[in-house]
Amino acid sequence: MLPVVVVHGGAGVVPRERSDVSCKGVQAAVRGGYTILREGGSALDAVVEAVTLLENNPAFNAGCGSVLNVKGDVEMDAMVMDGRTLASGAVSAVRNIANPTQLARLVMDKTSHVCLTAGGASEFARAMGIQEVPQESLITDYARMRWKKNLGPGANPVESQMGKMGTVGAVAVDAEGNAACATSTGGILNKMEGRVGDTACIGSGGYADNKVGAVSTTGHGEAIMKVTLARLILFHMEQGMSAAAASDAGLAYMLERVGGLAGVVTVDPQGHWAARFSSLQMVWAAAQNQKLHYGIYSGDQFTQVIDDTH
Ligand code: GLY
Repeated sequence: MLPVVVVHGGAGVVPRERSDVSCKGVQAAVRGGYTILREGGSALDAVVEAVTLLENNPAFNAGCGSVLNVKGDVEMDAMVMDGRTLASGAVSAVRNIANPTQLARLVMDKTSHVCLTAGGASEFARAMGIQEVPQESLITDYARMRWKKNLGPGANPVESQMGKMGTVGAVAVDAEGNAACATSTGGILNKMEGRVGDTACIGSGGYADNKVGAVSTTGHGEAIMKVTLARLILFHMEQGMSAAAASDAGLAYMLERVGGLAGVVTVDPQGHWAARFSSLQMVWAAAQNQKLHYGIYSGDQFTQVIDDTH
């Protein structure tokens, strides 16, 4: 069963013309993470690699491709967590860097803090030698078009909250049984400047604990934070539920209690995994036992053999 890695490319609605590129994007990311695991790498390295690949893919709402805030700027949130020690690192409202997840990992590895925000996160990035990138390099024509379309009275609140491009994330358990998660996002479309969502909040955007498993979430951040969705799912697993049943229970509670839609990828320490969502769609992929699984609508599970020859 081990190792295993599962990624998501966001809960919401994936426009038909973007579904192919989104599916290919999560497949490439999960392969990147799985390669690390098969070579004996850690779950932490695997999730950071998978999410970095998704941040570099303009099809997703993270890194290059991030949605814009109400002023037309990119402010990103990201987190990582290591289930061995519960060490965690996050950045919020960070600008002008290509890979916020790698910065979150440096917060975890190189500081005594869990989260750095805005200007302080940028200063830390500079001190760590991370190259600043122009904001324009993070903004796609699609993101700018959606920002303009949803400004003012014509704004679609559902599109703004759930979006047509997704937050990205990954969970993994390595051959040693260590669990990890990583999540990264541009947030929600036309958010207020300085808004921080679930992704930077440990327990909401993700959580990893070797004793229980790991979860990465996507969806409406304000609703996810109200129920601390990632930790809620792991609580259900501690009470004996499977990864799939606990994910469904957490999502159902969030819908019933605060009316929010979301999606999650979940693993337990034995390698059982789930990709579940209450939104219409969530693009996801998993790799385990030399097989790649993926889907986009509820009930989908397409499978390919991972062929090392290409
Ligand atoms: N789940 C991403 C956000 O709301 O920022």
